[in-house]
Amino acid sequence: MAEAVKQTGAGLRNVVAGESGISSIDGARGILAYRGIDIHELAEHSSFEEVVFLLHHGELPSRGELDQLRQDLASQRAVPGAVVEIQRRLPTSASPMASLRTMVSVLGAFDPDAGDDGPLARRRKSMRLVAQTATLVALVERLRRGLEPVPPDPTLSHAANFLYMLSARRPERVAEHALDVALVLHADHEFNASTFAARVAASTLAEVHGAVTAALATLQGPLHGGANEAVMRMLEEVGAPEAAERWVREALEAKRRVMGFGHAVYRTEDPRAIELRRLSLELAEHTGDRAWYDLSLRVEAAVRAAKALYPNVDFFSASLYRVLGIPTDLFTPVFAVSRVAGWTAHVLEQIDNNRLIRPESEYTGPRDVPYVPIEKRAARG
Ligand SMILES: CC(C)(COP(=O)(O)OP(=O)(O)OC[C@H]1O[C@@H](n2cnc3c(N)ncnc32)[C@H](O)[C@@H]1OP(=O)(O)O)[C@@H](O)C(=O)NCCC(=O)NCCS
Repeated sequence: MAEAVKQTGAGLRNVVAGESGISSIDGARGILAYRGIDIHELAEHSSFEEVVFLLHHGELPSRGELDQLRQDLASQRAVPGAVVEIQRRLPTSASPMASLRTMVSVLGAFDPDAGDDGPLARRRKSMRLVAQTATLVALVERLRRGLEPVPPDPTLSHAANFLYMLSARRPERVAEHALDVALVLHADHEFNASTFAARVAASTLAEVHGAVTAALATLQGPLHGGANEAVMRMLEEVGAPEAAERWVREALEAKRRVMGFGHAVYRTEDPRAIELRRLSLELAEHTGDRAWYDLSLRVEAAVRAAKALYPNVDFFSASLYRVLGIPTDLFTPVFAVSRVAGWTAHVLEQIDNNRLIRPESEYTGPRDVPYVPIEKRAARG
């Protein structure tokens, strides 16, 4: 095993770390499929709720099953009052991702199935987490702005209800659709860093909320989920379309990473970026607010002219979320609102066929070092 890592280099690139029947990626051809169904088909025809069923159960639901899942999700959105009170105690200066990570852990302590790790309880907890992560994100946003939480509306879809809980206004159809498709696109992505973290935790038979907390901690970094926020900050820094070429050239010359480009697996365009570019344009045209979309296009063209790098899922998420009125530091939590569907599917799959994940390292430190008593150690510095 250590031999395989030595051959393939750092970051476990090209290492197959386990089996999974949830999603598959063909990095060379730019194909992503959930349970064998192409992501473009799902983006066009499906909904977040349907994708939750697909990821958790392995196939598309019948109409009755979908109705039931919609009802289950909608009826479990509220979080206990005590959880809201704990959230009120967190500093408003905490990053929304830090708050969300903390609050998912807190939610675990209040879960009606806490302490029950049987297969049915694990499924119930997984479904509740999918329902409640959106509520927690809206709660974090409302409370840090000194606003009262908006109770979930069970008549709305997951996407529409999330936007409603954020702003206290029912969204237009076009905004609901844009977010719904974005949630479909972000729901799972094979053994990405946060999903792998969730699986490592689950493989110890840790409980579902613990595994999702590990995933959230891992999603936060700018090389993973944090990239969508970094893209927005970059677009703000670029400022105007005519500044894009120079900004990109200088960034690449300075060996800076252009956020939202490149991918550990895709060697061609990320298929999710194709859908998000289209959605971002649709929303921009509908609202008449094209500035962020047009700027994104110029940055994309400048990067492509300079280097063989394609946009990834995070690049056009930024302009899309911005026009949806989502604050920049909420972009990564919004990613989590969707990815929790994948994380929990992976936790369930891992535990159903578990073996503790415990790789080896290649030791590169010194060997046979004698122990020197503290009084005989040379002073440093
Ligand atoms: C996602 C990412 C970490 C994958 O990286 P990786 O598989 O480890 O690829 P590497 O870091 O080995 O990069 C390979 C080459 O492409 C370059 N590269 C990759 N992504 C780049 C980017 N976004 N901007 C500039 N150069 C980039 C690297 O500098 C490296 O060039 P070199 O060979 O001249 O040193 C990387 O593309 C990145 O940092 N992207 C920006 C962050 C981001 O958008 N993350 C979200 C991922 S969905």
